[in-house]
Amino acid sequence: MIHPIVKFGNPVLEKPAEKVTVFDEELKKLIDDMFESMYAARGVGLAAPQIGISRRIAVVDVTFKEDPEAKLVLINPEIIHKEGRHSQSEGCLSIPDFRENVSRAQVVTIRAQDLCGKIFEKTGDDLLARALQHETDHLNGKLYISHISALKRDLIKRKIRKLVKAGEW
Ligand code: NI
Repeated sequence: MIHPIVKFGNPVLEKPAEKVTVFDEELKKLIDDMFESMYAARGVGLAAPQIGISRRIAVVDVTFKEDPEAKLVLINPEIIHKEGRHSQSEGCLSIPDFRENVSRAQVVTIRAQDLCGKIFEKTGDDLLARALQHETDHLNGKLYISHISALKRDLIKRKIRKLVKAGEW
């Protein structure tokens, strides 16, 4: 089932999500739905709060269906190691049609649970490192615009307020 993507302004995006403790069929179904919703929205990552569910779950596929092995399910993820710095243009399905350069660690290692609850670690660089940081941020109620200058952030917020007023957000 494809869920609509929650947009900036909805408080669910800015509060820390709840830890997952039950690894059952319902969770597997939710993860299938998240991949489906992410692909439908043409994204390479999606966190559960972005479909209005405040739980620590994210899905990532930086190859966008090219490589089935690249599909990643991250439950209760934590970044445990960061290295280097890299600045690149970044966007978010919850802030459509905006992009900004964001400086992030170039290489990160994440520790997370899979859909059976098994703990694993994964190291990624470049786009994968960026996605792992972006999605983990979502689960902490943090959006990429919190990493840009206040000036640029306020400009985006002002434009969004106009879109909201015009009924276009
Ligand atoms: Ni996002």
